[in-house]
Amino acid sequence: MKKYKVGFTTGVFDLFHVGHLNLLERCKKQCEYLIVAVCGDDYVTQVKKKNPVYSEEERIRIIGALKCVDEVSSISLAEIDDKMLALERFKFDVLFSGDDWKGSERYKKTEEQFSGLGVSIEYLPYTQGISTTQIKEELKSKE
Ligand code: CTP
Repeated sequence: MKKYKVGFTTGVFDLFHVGHLNLLERCKKQCEYLIVAVCGDDYVTQVKKKNPVYSEEERIRIIGALKCVDEVSSISLAEIDDKMLALERFKFDVLFSGDDWKGSERYKKTEEQFSGLGVSIEYLPYTQGISTTQIKEELKSKE
């Protein structure tokens, strides 16, 4: 029996790499059923101010093919910003995130919203030394 029944996490997951895989496998170790919501191209361009390499549709297909993922979905800008909206739709027991988000305004707000609702937030260790941004930079420097 795992610690949680339904777990939820969200991210862009562009240029899928081992840091992403570590995170998703660690999520699945703690929950019976893992839902992953993939941020849309609008979030990447408008909020992250970057251009995704893989489209939202491709990123959803890749995440959905992983054996540690039980359900994949898209997620709106409003649901990314306000995790109460995500909670209403996905009805999870735990929200997982890499610990690079700990202490951010968005997650501090979410901690306040979830306290008293019986919904947990678990920060999982961020894999050092790899990120989508880093991969893009390395490719650029090798050109
Ligand atoms: N993540 C992680 N370890 C990494 C990279 C990402 O644990 N090395 C986690 C993030 O904390 C987040 C999820 O994976 O919970 C999705 O992260 P995402 O922003 O899509 O990946 P990054 O590689 O960090 O992308 P970028 O460089 O564009 O910020």
